[in-house]
Amino acid sequence: MADIEKTFIMIKPDAVRDRKTGLIIDRIERCGLTIEKMEKCELDEDLVKVHYAHLADKPFFGDIVDFMTSGPVVKMVVSGLSAVSKMRTLMGATNPLDAAPGTIRGDFANDVNANIIHGSDSLENAAIEIERFFG
Ligand code: TYD
Repeated sequence: MADIEKTFIMIKPDAVRDRKTGLIIDRIERCGLTIEKMEKCELDEDLVKVHYAHLADKPFFGDIVDFMTSGPVVKMVVSGLSAVSKMRTLMGATNPLDAAPGTIRGDFANDVNANIIHGSDSLENAAIEIERFFG
């Protein structure tokens, strides 16, 4: 039986700049998930570096930091049955070129660096990320 979970979601600067926030929230709510908390904010470099520390040795790490600090994001806590995996399915593959049509990345993104949305990849990371961004 599925459990009610909480996951951390972030609409990235490209989508906020392009006024896609409402469309993305609509898709989340249409899936039966609930926005528990939501705030528009700018991220400082140190927070982005901690959040993406698992990619620190990748050649594109600097691009991630530049992109994620290029403008405001909308951070959220989203809850619902199997919210972590449901959001990952709704978001689509990390690389929008591999993301299926009908997914958020498949429909709205076309660049792996500027891929519109972040969602926690496990229940354990969701708890860590909610604490990291909402304290
Ligand atoms: P990752 O944590 O692997 O994926 P996800 O965001 O789906 O959990 O990657 C984090 C971000 O790093 C990803 O959303 C976009 C960026 N990224 C690149 O710019 N190039 C890449 O080749 C990869 C794998 C990720």
